[in-house]
Amino acid sequence: MYNFKDKVVYQIYPKSFHDSNGDGFGDLKGVTQKLDYLADLGVDYLWLTPFFPSPQRDNGYDVANYRAVDSRYGTMDDLDELIREADKRGIGLMLDMVFNHTSTEHDWFQKALAGDKKYQDYYIFKDGSPDRCPTNWVSKFGGSAWEYVPQLGKWYLHLFDVMQADLNWENPAVRAEMADILRFWKARGIKGFRFDVVNLISKPELYEDDLEGDGRRFYTDGCNVGKYLKELVAAGGIDGMMTVGEMSSTTLENCIGYTSEKNHELTMCFNFHHLKVDYKNGQKWELMPPDHGALKRLFKTWQEGMQEHGGWNALFWCNHDQPRAVSRFGSDTTYWRESAEMLATAIHCMRGTPYIYQGEELGMTNPHFTKIDQYRDVESLNYYKILREQGKSEAETLNILAQRSRDDSRTPMQWDSSPNAGFTSGTPWIGVADNYKSINAAAQTSDADSIYSFYKAIVRLRKEHRVISEGKIEFLYPDNTDLLTYRRYGSADKEELLVLCNLTEQEIHAELPDAWATAEKLIGNYEDNPSETLRPYECVVLHTTKE
Ligand code: GLC
Repeated sequence: MYNFKDKVVYQIYPKSFHDSNGDGFGDLKGVTQKLDYLADLGVDYLWLTPFFPSPQRDNGYDVANYRAVDSRYGTMDDLDELIREADKRGIGLMLDMVFNHTSTEHDWFQKALAGDKKYQDYYIFKDGSPDRCPTNWVSKFGGSAWEYVPQLGKWYLHLFDVMQADLNWENPAVRAEMADILRFWKARGIKGFRFDVVNLISKPELYEDDLEGDGRRFYTDGCNVGKYLKELVAAGGIDGMMTVGEMSSTTLENCIGYTSEKNHELTMCFNFHHLKVDYKNGQKWELMPPDHGALKRLFKTWQEGMQEHGGWNALFWCNHDQPRAVSRFGSDTTYWRESAEMLATAIHCMRGTPYIYQGEELGMTNPHFTKIDQYRDVESLNYYKILREQGKSEAETLNILAQRSRDDSRTPMQWDSSPNAGFTSGTPWIGVADNYKSINAAAQTSDADSIYSFYKAIVRLRKEHRVISEGKIEFLYPDNTDLLTYRRYGSADKEELLVLCNLTEQEIHAELPDAWATAEKLIGNYEDNPSETLRPYECVVLHTTKE
């Protein structure tokens, strides 16, 4: 296996990254035009979210053809050019494989609807009468997870939108199709893959009502996920490539299995437990400030657990489904820079592979939308209705959406202070955050004290200090809820690091262990050296070398 441990991945949501032709919609040429910026930041891989032909019900996570480029994003030639130009800069491309479901506009589903039995077996169809769903399972986007097709007298399963039909992975023909898609992209020069909600592919034998929940316990981490992944990786010829699986509501034990090298499944997993610490009663649409104690416990459990059993984590705060971390876990006003840099430090020095989501390196914030017509996301629009029906007022509902919507992270990348933040010369498909005149790449790339420069420095540290990429981790001060502290040690270069992060905007007291009194400061977000008081959102990384 090649060394993937010192690599950093940058996630691009092409629709909102850079528009090269003025249609208001980001495209592949737009990404190519920004490669020098990404090379300067120092990232090794670009994960591009889906740009395949799609009706865009779920912004491309509803794929109608896995082997082509949607004309809104450009052409296959544009993609080849992007691959080539990225390669020249030492950057590899990772594609997003949405293999749990297809768009209902995919040929396979269309053939199934036309009565073709072979393709009906590609999906999960159940006979039944129109007045009774096969089970009471709930779609992740709200409402029933089943849709009735009158002309077939059957229901089909859709764990997400009604236009995202779940595939039947028990069918070997489906598994062979998926492996073939991987071979296709690998032959074109793609260097890695992200697998969308891949721990949902193994469905149960028996479909029954969930009397305790929404059905997820029957299809999450199903008993054949590991077997299907092994088969996919072997048949797709991607063993040893950079891969990451998105794991919905998963467990540590399962993720150890998915990522242990000996299993030849995935390089690493995304899990989301640490991004639920501000869900009141575990509910995404109920607000609560982040529970730092829970956050610390989850980091400790996942970091130390993966280490002990040979697994590997993906490290992230942000992606296209999450609100902006600086607005959520930091301060997007008074301590904007300090908190953005503290959040970067907190995860970039951990054991695992860090992911930067476009604009995170600039401290991009939630857009603080105030009207429903500013939203585009199918989940947000569905939940707007659901929350209103539950009796929440318009103002309360909009306040919840402003803090929880997936559109919080999907507003255009802020390149400069020109109209539309330099994202497009046309009308952007979704509004730009108002603060783009002060928060943008042009203002930050040449400023040595910017969030961008901090990110650049922390990306470089991972490559310069093997203790970050290869060392062990141990969490300290379990009782000090607001202070995230860990030690990195045990790598061949004999270095040790102590990472201290004040998660709050209050000063907190932190007595350093004696051994660290003379340590050198490697990076931090306040100028002078640390005292026993950590200032608001202060972070500092101390460094010593053991003889
Ligand atoms: C993943 C994607 C999300 C998408 C869903 C269904 O969670 O990240 O954007 O809506 O899968 O494909």
